[in-house]
Amino acid sequence: MARVFVTRKLPFWEEISKPLFDGGHEVVFGKSEQLDDSFEGLLCLLTDRIDKDLLGRAKSLRVIANYAVGYDNIDVQACEEKGVRVSNTPCDEVNESVAEFAWALMLALSRRLPEAAEYARNAAYHGWEPEIFIGGDLKGRTLGIIGAGRIGSMVAKRAEGWEMRVMSYSRSSGLKLEEVLGQSDFVSLHVPLTSETRHLINKKSLGAMKKGAILVNTARGPVVDEAEVAEALRAGFLGGYGADVFENEPNPYAELLQMENVILTPHIASATVAARKRMGELAVLNLVEGLAGREMPNLVK
Ligand code: DGY
Repeated sequence: MARVFVTRKLPFWEEISKPLFDGGHEVVFGKSEQLDDSFEGLLCLLTDRIDKDLLGRAKSLRVIANYAVGYDNIDVQACEEKGVRVSNTPCDEVNESVAEFAWALMLALSRRLPEAAEYARNAAYHGWEPEIFIGGDLKGRTLGIIGAGRIGSMVAKRAEGWEMRVMSYSRSSGLKLEEVLGQSDFVSLHVPLTSETRHLINKKSLGAMKKGAILVNTARGPVVDEAEVAEALRAGFLGGYGADVFENEPNPYAELLQMENVILTPHIASATVAARKRMGELAVLNLVEGLAGREMPNLVK
């Protein structure tokens, strides 16, 4: 039996937390700053910064379950040095919901849905006109997937239905980033945030893109340089930008908020019932297994 610190009561908590209580663990809710040396387990969110300071304070901590697939909020190396095991929540439910959301952004930008919906809402529509809100086509176009892991592959699979051509870039794909960017009409980002991928999309890589291409980011905000994206949009070079994540969450680069060919959403790509439930179940499972000294199913290495 251990003391477990939980930084937020998660959706479906009554259901998903059962194994913690069945295991006799004591659960305390609070903000990560309140974590002290009486806790062996931590269930945290991607908004909790787990760094050396926190680890120095939480001297009894043995197990961290991050309620997210991405774990760039955690200093994993510092955890390893302190003997703290870390897990995340990769699962098909999250992969599917994020892949669907990337498509939602691509479709909405390509068919100008926000502008058209605003137009109808403002009662500006006075009858059918052949030239209003002409958008782009998907069939025969090329989709560039940057980061061909679990989520990227699901986005690619869904492109078959649209009869699109898919090109993928990853460290092992054999293709250069510029090659993929240069041929893609749509570019979808699916890399984790690391020192290598920070500002992967910058002035240079944006310059390698096709004029008029649409870029979507459901990965992590700092993978793009938002100021450079805004510049490429302002110049009329980039056709559209859809982002569910921002460089400095919760605040997007201000100019992006004013642009019609930009869709910004509040980090909700995995916000479906199935994904949120499974993320909670996995976080709890990893905690319980880790606290029992067993292998954590989603140990981050
Ligand atoms: C993740 O899992 O990393 C998403 O950003 C939130 O679900």
